Amino acid sequence: MGDSDLIAAARRARECAHADFSSFKVGAALEANDGTVITGCNIENATYGLTVCAERVAMFKALSEGHRTFRRIVVVADTEAPTPPCGACRQILWEFGGDLEVILANLHRETGRHTLSNLFPLPFDKSLL
Ligand code: THU
Repeated sequence: MGDSDLIAAARRARECAHADFSSFKVGAALEANDGTVITGCNIENATYGLTVCAERVAMFKALSEGHRTFRRIVVVADTEAPTPPCGACRQILWEFGGDLEVILANLHRETGRHTLSNLFPLPFDKSLL
């Protein structure tokens, strides 16, 4: 799948966001190594702390469907500035996805392109256990 298709998938996923408290809708599209695209959106909760970000929803969906290796993830929010994954998502993406390519976009254009190792230097992971 090309970059623009993956970005379009994340934009569509964003439409499903449950963001009643922040009104900040996020969509993600995670591409597995076999080419499957698994999407996610943020799901907020009245107790706030139980909110799950779009990136983790996508990764947990993918894992629960049997996917184990991944190459990139797109994150879309309706912001001019890039919306990068939060710290919790970086940890989860690193642990299950390794050094993913992370593509950031808004509703109109790409806003950034990074490697996860760049966004998440010196991670704690199973190699340290
Ligand atoms: N959020 C995401 O889903 N992904 C990000 O990369 C940043 C933040 C969500 C969490 C919460 O529902 C809302 O955006 C505001 O923080």
